[in-house]
Amino acid sequence: MSAFLEETVLSVHHWTDRLFSFTTTRDTALRFSNGHFTMIGLRQENGKPLLRAYSIVSANYEEHLEFFSIKVPDGPLTSKLQHIQVGDKIIVGKKPTGTLLIDYLLPGKNLYLIGTGTGLAPFLCLIRDPATYEKYEKVILFHGVREVQELAYADFINVDLPNNEFLGDLVKAQLLYYPSVTREPFKNRGRATDLIASGKLEADLGLPKIDPERDRIMICGSPALNKDIRALLDARGFKEGSTTTPGDYVVERAFVEQ
Ligand code: A2P
Repeated sequence: MSAFLEETVLSVHHWTDRLFSFTTTRDTALRFSNGHFTMIGLRQENGKPLLRAYSIVSANYEEHLEFFSIKVPDGPLTSKLQHIQVGDKIIVGKKPTGTLLIDYLLPGKNLYLIGTGTGLAPFLCLIRDPATYEKYEKVILFHGVREVQELAYADFINVDLPNNEFLGDLVKAQLLYYPSVTREPFKNRGRATDLIASGKLEADLGLPKIDPERDRIMICGSPALNKDIRALLDARGFKEGSTTTPGDYVVERAFVEQ
């Protein structure tokens, strides 16, 4: 039996010349938890699949799948994937997995979701899961990018979600969105590491400085970002969780070099 499903592209949205999103059909056999990633890709001319790991943007209760991708001009997969059109086929691995699940975090008061670039993807899934709002009082979504135009999904977060028939009230009461830009003027500036080290992130949101007694954190970014935030949290006494032992924070790589 094949390890892959074949799905059909339903829509494609290009945010910038570096970022795009697309939706596909979803085989009813594909089960996943919100926050999971799976292997997706294209079948090559020799018939072999060319795959990379992608966090699933859509929630597990939705009928379609959605993914958020960078475009790397010489990237083996994304140089081709960026040209997909409605009606094209992609392949999707049948075994989603990953560590960015609220089950792998200990109970707490506030949940910080720290994503940079396409590392936003798993959090787009988690912020539309009612379980996230049941488990935490406040859900803070930090999205760090270089340029304002890379703040993909800002309208979805600011406008669509608060007006969502089922989630709107939870989102309005509990979700705090903190977009931050590092390389041009914007209302919030700076890297996640600096904003957490100085306490500015929490202060801007009217929250106390992050503390392992109260706060839980998920991180999804480049290897350098993950390493730097890990060091910062470890120094503050946070313990990393895994699929076998829940902790105060969990980390996953946003699969950027594709
Ligand atoms: P900066 O512009 O200062 O490099 P990228 O597109 O390279 O993945 O970066 C996305 C965002 O993550 C940018 O705002 C970038 O800031 C920031 N960033 C990159 N590396 C780190 C790091 N090690 N620690 C904190 N933020 C980082």
